Parts: sequence; structure tokens; C-alpha cells
Amino acid sequence: MLFKNIWFLAVPFVSAIPAHSLSRDVPFFYKGHDLSSLKMLEEGGCIYKDTTRNNETRLAEAILGDGGMNTVRLRIWVNPVGGTYGLQYNLDLAKRFQDEGYKIYLDFHFADSWADPTKQPIPAGWPSSLDPLASTLRAYVKDTLVSFQEAGIILDLVALGNEIRHGMLWPTGYADVDVEPWTKTVANFSNLATLWKAARAGVDDAVFAGVTKPQVLIHIDDGWNLTLQQRWFGAMVDNGLPTTAWDVFAFSFYPFYGTAATFSNLRTTLNTLAEEYRKPLQVVETDYPAICNGQYNPIPPSSEPEIPYDVAGQTIWIDDVISIVQQVPFGLGRGVMYWEPAWLNNTSLGSDCNDAILFSADYANAEHTIGYSRTSVNMFNTQS
Ligand SMILES: *[C@@H]1O[C@H](CO)[C@@H](O)[C@H](O)[C@H]1NC(C)=O
Ligand SMILES: *[C@@H]1O[C@H](CO)[C@@H](O)[C@H](O)[C@H]1NC(C)=O
Ligand SMILES: *[C@@H]1O[C@H](CO)[C@@H](O)[C@H](O)[C@H]1NC(C)=O
Ligand SMILES: *[C@@H]1O[C@H](CO)[C@@H](O)[C@H](O)[C@H]1NC(C)=O
Ligand SMILES: *[C@@H]1O[C@H](CO)[C@@H](O)[C@H](O)[C@H]1NC(C)=O
Repeated sequence: MLFKNIWFLAVPFVSAIPAHSLSRDVPFFYKGHDLSSLKMLEEGGCIYKDTTRNNETRLAEAILGDGGMNTVRLRIWVNPVGGTYGLQYNLDLAKRFQDEGYKIYLDFHFADSWADPTKQPIPAGWPSSLDPLASTLRAYVKDTLVSFQEAGIILDLVALGNEIRHGMLWPTGYADVDVEPWTKTVANFSNLATLWKAARAGVDDAVFAGVTKPQVLIHIDDGWNLTLQQRWFGAMVDNGLPTTAWDVFAFSFYPFYGTAATFSNLRTTLNTLAEEYRKPLQVVETDYPAICNGQYNPIPPSSEPEIPYDVAGQTIWIDDVISIVQQVPFGLGRGVMYWEPAWLNNTSLGSDCNDAILFSADYANAEHTIGYSRTSVNMFNTQS
């Protein structure tokens, strides 16, 4: 081992070798950007300019890759209107990013459109009663993963469901660790566990059919809330989900949806889960505003108010999140991903702020919306 490392270091151009291959003891650390909207944007004429290269026009991923990105996250919808975020759309993007050397994270929404804690619609073409729904889900996961393999794409990370704090495939798979607002009873996790296990069985079916096994993620929002995460995963285990069924805890962590989303709470949650489950964890969605001036909505306070809402603040936020994840005990903190940094015509990214992306958008040219890279495109370069 030691000789091997010394040999590597003696080779010229050693910087071309990714740092993680220098030591086999340090697990790979995922630094990702969610670039799901990019193909749609490019087809609509969006282009990206690298401000560190005299405004040279480049692919967005080339600019972000120079900034330290090693992974691309992509959301997949079942049968979306117009095909955006559907299977073929994702095969095209994933192939392109893989060919450029990036690892691929596939984010299943199990819906025809957005799925998050406020909505998890069953796809229009799917049954809604439990058993047929579970069978359909299982076959869909298998078929989708086989399609990626057949297209020559190796998926590194696969999340079964997107932000499933309140379950998925509503109403059948609805679940809640708190008192359920309509029935005033604690929602039963039994259906959700059945459905999630069916999706997981679809991964096994795909592997049996020759697909390279991805790491399987369960993705919940509010990664800072220990009570939520302990109750949620506890309820799944109580309903028969073995802890071996998922490989990685995946969390969202945003600064502007509530002041309890502090670094301290994030650290406590990640470290406690690492102690309890001894399983890898990642923050798979975050972002931080570059501009938040109250022009459209009241300014939401940041959960870390000493970090300014500006371009420098974007990098400070990510640096701090990465350092918290990298300090998780037993080396179990394995990645951080930024959500949709290149979405030039949706810059608020769902926040009440004006702009949380990593490019400055110029709409003056009717044919081409132009994104000028901000210094924060380098956010994944500043850590070890
Ligand atoms: C953004 O631009 C793309 C490409 O022109 C278009 O398809 C899409 O509908 C736009 N989205 C938003 C949020 O305006
Ligand atoms: C790049 O474009 C921006 C926006 O138009 C401009 O402010 C800047 O001066 C340009 N930089 C160079 C080197 O041309
Ligand atoms: C949850 O639902 C399942 C299936 O309907 C049922 O068998 C079980 O008793 C329920 N558990 C609780 C705690 O209500
Ligand atoms: C944390 O999650 C628990 C369980 O869902 C919830 O009851 C509590 O209100 C959450 N805490 C905050 C500060 O939102
Ligand atoms: C823009 O992003 C937000 C953030 O999640 C999303 O809810 C919204 O639907 C997006 N807009 C479009 C047109 O896709």
C-alpha cells in the first residue's frame, strides 16, 4: 500500500489522478450537482459562459466539473407531459455525463411530476390499491434500471422515492410520524413499508437480470431534525424493513424553510444516526441564495444568519455543510449535492429568495438566455 502510494506520487501529472484513488482507505466523497433541467434548458437556447475564461461558452457541467463536481444527480418521472424528466430524457443526460467521467445518481420520484413532502401523486397509468400498485412499482424499478444498463450507463446511487417524509404514492403510501392532520391518528407505515420493499425488490430483480448493483438511498427532507429521522426510520424497521435494505441515508438540508435547520442540528442528526445505524449518510439536496432582496416575497431568515445571502455566502454554506458531513463518525459522511445550480429561468429554486443558482442569468438576448458563472461554481474545490 505504502509503496503503491509513493509510486503514484512519483508519476508526473499526478494531479490528473483523482485524489480518492491515492488512498484506498478513504471512501469516495460525492460532490454533486443536480442538473436535471439542463437538457430542457439547452433545447430552449440557454447557454453558459465561463467568466474565468473571458466568457468562453462552455457546457454547464464543464464549468461545474472544473469547480470540483464529480457526480450528477438526475430526477426521473414516470410519464411526464412532453417527456422532460422521463426515461429517454434521463438516458440521454446520464450517458453524456457518464462519458464525461461523472458518477450518476438517479432520483426516482415515482410520479408523473414533482414529488415532495407536500405531494406524492400516483402516476396516472398506475393502479392505486396496494398489491397491484406494489407489483407495478417493482416492475417499473426493474425495467428502468435495466434500460440504463442496456444503454451502457452504470448508476452509482439510486434513491427510491424523493423526500418521502410523508410516504410516497398517495394516498395508498401516505405515512406520517406525527398525528395525521385529517384522521387525527398516527398514520400507519405498513403500506409505505410494503411499497418501499417492492421498489427495493425491483432493484434486486434488475441485479438478477445483470444490472450492476447501485447503492440504494432513502431520501427524507429536514435532515436537521433528529426526532423526525429517528421516528421515521424506526417506523419503517418496525414495519418489517430490514436495515440491510438501504445502503445510504440521504437528506435534504435547506437554510430558508425554518430557522431550526442549523448546522448544530444537522451535526447532531447525522452523528446520532451514524452511531445508531453505522451506515453511510449524504446531504443530497441543498442550496444557498446568491440574491435575496425581498423584491417578490418577504426575506426568509437564514437558519445560519451570520452567513450572508450572497455569492460568497453560497460557498461558505457549502464548505460548512461539507465539513459537518466529513466529520461524521466512522467516516460515514459520504457526500453533498447542490440542487439545480444551472436553472437559469427558475432561479429561486422554490425558495422565497430571488436567486440561489450558481450562474448570473442574462435574459437580454431573445434567442439565448446566458448564464455567467459566479465564483461559487468552484464551491467543491475549496475542501481537501
Ligand atoms: C425555462 O426554459 C425552458 C427552455 O426554454 C422552457 O422549456 C421551460 O418551460 C422554462 N421554465 C421555466 C420555469 O420558465
Ligand atoms: C463577461 O460578461 C460580463 C457580462 O456581460 C461582463 O460584465 C464582463 O466584463 C465580461 N468579461 C470579459 C472578460 O469579457
Ligand atoms: C397497519 O395497517 C395494516 C394493514 O392495513 C394492519 O394490518 C395493521 O394492524 C395496522 N397497524 C396499526 C398499528 O394500525
Ligand atoms: C421535527 O420533527 C418532528 C417529527 O416529525 C416534529 O414533530 C417536529 O415539529 C419537528 N421539529 C421542528 C422544529 O419542526
Ligand atoms: C422551479 O423550481 C421549483 C422548485 O422546486 C419547482 O417547484 C417549480 O415547479 C419549478 N418550475 C418549473 C416550471 O418547473
